[in-house]
Amino acid sequence: RLLIKGGRVVNADCSVDADVFVENGIVLKVGKNLEVPGGTRVVDAVGKLVMPGGIDTHTHMQLPFMGTFAVDDFYIGTKAAIAGGTTMILDFVLDQKGVSLLEAYDKWRGWADAKVCCDYSLHMAVTWWSPQVKLEMAEIAKNRGINSFKMFMAYKDVFMLDDTDLYEVYKNCREIGALAMMHAENGHVIDNEQKRMLELGITGPEGHAMCRPEEVEAEATGRAIMIANQLNCPMYIVHVMSKSSANVIVEARKRGNVVFGEPIAASLGTDGTNYWHKCWRHAAAHVMGPPLRPDITTPAYLMDLLANGDMECTGTDNCTFNASQKALGKDNFAKIPNGVNGVEDRMSVIWEKGVASGKMDENRFVAVTSTNAAKVFNLYPRKGVIAPGSDADIIIWDAEATRTISAKTHHQAVDFNIFEGMVCHGVNVCTISRGKVVYEDGKFTVSAGDGKFIPRSPFCKYVYNRINKRMEDYNPSKVEREPYDGPVYQINKNG
Ligand code: URP
Ligand code: ZN
Ligand code: ZN
Repeated sequence: RLLIKGGRVVNADCSVDADVFVENGIVLKVGKNLEVPGGTRVVDAVGKLVMPGGIDTHTHMQLPFMGTFAVDDFYIGTKAAIAGGTTMILDFVLDQKGVSLLEAYDKWRGWADAKVCCDYSLHMAVTWWSPQVKLEMAEIAKNRGINSFKMFMAYKDVFMLDDTDLYEVYKNCREIGALAMMHAENGHVIDNEQKRMLELGITGPEGHAMCRPEEVEAEATGRAIMIANQLNCPMYIVHVMSKSSANVIVEARKRGNVVFGEPIAASLGTDGTNYWHKCWRHAAAHVMGPPLRPDITTPAYLMDLLANGDMECTGTDNCTFNASQKALGKDNFAKIPNGVNGVEDRMSVIWEKGVASGKMDENRFVAVTSTNAAKVFNLYPRKGVIAPGSDADIIIWDAEATRTISAKTHHQAVDFNIFEGMVCHGVNVCTISRGKVVYEDGKFTVSAGDGKFIPRSPFCKYVYNRINKRMEDYNPSKVEREPYDGPVYQINKNG
């Protein structure tokens, strides 16, 4: 039993001065002068904000990728998440073409269940298409707790699906009540442009940025949304990295499409000028796909869209590689393992660039770091809100304190931090996961396996109420008319 006393409870809709009483991992009461049983542990929150723990919509702990493995595993990665104020991650089952989705699912559960320090859930990547995949997607949505499937328009010959297969996957997503997620970049163009850069003698990380400029992302974003819209399938664009891709999403939403955009800590907190850095290791550390953008006004622009409701959720795409792993591509940028950090720092970066800058208030902060993710991925109101009946995943946030982000002090396994030196207002001082204090004053009280897999059902109302209604329009009716009975021109086969 816990009583969080004297703080200001911040939810997505409003903030109130209230205490929070927690029992058996669940919030029981929110209010003033609560009567609580003797022996209840009191956590002091005077002068602090009490908020729903962050939900990171996009991580890749210990991902096998580009010849190596991401160094933040499910233990270290979720521990770092907790330190930064995130109490749930959504990671990806992501295996090679030809591998059974059910087998891949078991593999990821096997890795994660034993190691996670906070609750987690999974998205499933679909990297190939066949009648078997179709059946397995249905089984996974119905019985394995995954209602979101990620596809790739990039990573040719590895993860990429062409438009014909995407059409089938989207159709299946809609039939099984899942959300389609897209890595939107034109893989064919990237493949050719990589070769061209290398032929020009450009082998460093700047080549990574130059072979996949903004329009490569924007084109694929538009195509993904267009195909999904033909099938009345809801669409979630992961890792929105550029202004032009974000604009495509905004325009589609103006047209009424059911589409969500996910900027990440990296695209909100730093930029692609780093690829031109003279230090190879520094430049390579920023390599991810789609790349960060050299247009330095991009982060503030994406933050405005997030603040004003054009984009909803934030993730990190946390997928970390040490210097020696990045060095697999020291002579060829196309071989640098793609991925950056973020899981620990997302909350602070968004507070600093979003709230401290005056772009959003504390309630919008909770919406974009937690509540909206819970809604889109069918976890609400179990997660994403502090209210009676919700899971007690809660953070105590000191809005006045500052900290300086550094690889020297972060809790992640990786040897570099893309936010190095950033001074952030907004520091997480205490994390409560499943009703238990797991992090306080810089100390952890958590073990591997304390977190649980949280299954998510298909046909999430927040997404599918609109989709189901639209099915009436989706099935058009034909015009009844008398058949044409005039002459028909005869095609002469001999020309
Ligand atoms: O560079 C990235 N984004 N690495 C992780 C895999 C992905 O595409 O999300
Ligand atoms: Zn991706
Ligand atoms: Zn990713």
